Amino acid sequence: EKSAVVGPLVGAVVQGTNSTRFLVFSSKTGQLISHHQVELTQEFPREGWVEQDPKEILQSVYECMERTCEKLAELNIDISNIKAVGVSNQRETTVIWDKLTGDPLYNAVVWLDLRTQSTVEILSKKIPGNNNFVKSKTGLPLSTYFSAVKLRWILDNVRNVQKAVEEGRALFGTIDSWLIWSITGGVNGGLHCTDVTNASRTMLFNIHSLEWDKELCDFFEIPMNILPNVCSSSEIYGLIKGGTLDGVPISGCLGDQSAALVGQMCFQEGQAKNTYGTGCFLMCNTGRKCIFSERGLLTTVAYKLGKDKPVYYALEGSVAIAGAVIRWLRDNLGIIETPEETENLAKEVGTSYGCYFVPAFSGLYAPYWEPSARGILCGLTQFTNKCHIAFAALEAVCFQTREILEAMNRDCGIPLTHLQVDGGMTVNKILMQLQADILHIPVLKPTMTETTALGAAIAAGAAEGVDVWSLKPENLTAVTMERFEPQIKATESENRYSTWKKAVQKSMGWATT
Ligand code: G3P
Repeated sequence: EKSAVVGPLVGAVVQGTNSTRFLVFSSKTGQLISHHQVELTQEFPREGWVEQDPKEILQSVYECMERTCEKLAELNIDISNIKAVGVSNQRETTVIWDKLTGDPLYNAVVWLDLRTQSTVEILSKKIPGNNNFVKSKTGLPLSTYFSAVKLRWILDNVRNVQKAVEEGRALFGTIDSWLIWSITGGVNGGLHCTDVTNASRTMLFNIHSLEWDKELCDFFEIPMNILPNVCSSSEIYGLIKGGTLDGVPISGCLGDQSAALVGQMCFQEGQAKNTYGTGCFLMCNTGRKCIFSERGLLTTVAYKLGKDKPVYYALEGSVAIAGAVIRWLRDNLGIIETPEETENLAKEVGTSYGCYFVPAFSGLYAPYWEPSARGILCGLTQFTNKCHIAFAALEAVCFQTREILEAMNRDCGIPLTHLQVDGGMTVNKILMQLQADILHIPVLKPTMTETTALGAAIAAGAAEGVDVWSLKPENLTAVTMERFEPQIKATESENRYSTWKKAVQKSMGWATT
């Protein structure tokens, strides 16, 4: 009987920009038992706009949960072993829904969306030069990236949202809030909550007091009664209503990058991880203190694993486009049919042959924060083919990582001696080798790469009242790592990196000319 061997299980929802997954782990061994994944639609209704259907996202979560339960049943594993479920999610993406009908009032405005560029310009002029209270309270630069400006735009432009707010029917949330509210009952008593990590990405949350901030809400003109209740990242928020997992507590919630930090066991100050998803996010645990960057990194909440547990902070280097460039090669250029083909194309040539690709589809995030940048491909000749373009796309991910790693090293004062990585793209061995070459430090990849899910599962399993996952250091054994060593000369990586920097300069200002 497998179930006896497996013991208590914990499920994790991983709701990313590109796909939704549900994964089930053994809380005793940390072993991944089963999972299911569904790819999601993204809508681009206008140049720079990125939307998703909140209902499709919710359905994908239910589908993944049900299919995973079926797979467990096929393995002869008793579903009642699942003691808790954690949620990790794409951050900043903004949903507003009607609490009486349970229906979204507008499409989700995705974190990558650029429609708020002029909203940001207008708001920037309202911030006094010598008192950047937005940055000092939130740790974030005023940018199209964060929820407050997206919500401001929706309130200004969508009549039925204005009406619902006036009538007290509207609720706001990032994806975690939308999912938890819906899954814990929706119109029949769903819980309107979020956790400190997701709240810290809205730009309405004071990362020092860990509360919604009245001055920020006034500045962005956001009514505070539509905001969710802010909880820690590990506590019982409510029980799942309906479906095979009916009655199971939801007891973990973390933005996906925080979840990966926990899943990579980066609990010590100075430990960092880089996750290659739709975007690419390097996060370094700075312990109990907020460090403010001089080089375009964000100060953000790393995690708070329990109501009475301390909050930990992080510095983050955010890159908007990583895996999204591969999806673009598939969906927009049609030069690949599956993401895996990129590796073969790149391997065929082993060089971009002087071709550089800056995928600034949503402007450039860290360290530049330049919304006017747009994607460019340069250095093309008649010799250039799709293999070189695929190679350049992979190299772009690595160069962008080097930019945020350099900023991180300078801000922290102690350079990282290796880079701990995870995320979907890390299956690509060429990418991993290129990353080690371009950074000129070793790259370490856990053999179990589902670290985002693992982090959400740990948070859920360790919650008070669930207590199936111990947070004692001896139980959080270090993950085994595959190692990629730099194989090119430092001078060669320097040369390639400086050409990349030239290409970046060319991408700047494009949207305004
Ligand atoms: O901040 C956005 C980030 O959370 C999105 O993550 O996994 O969709 O790249 P991902």
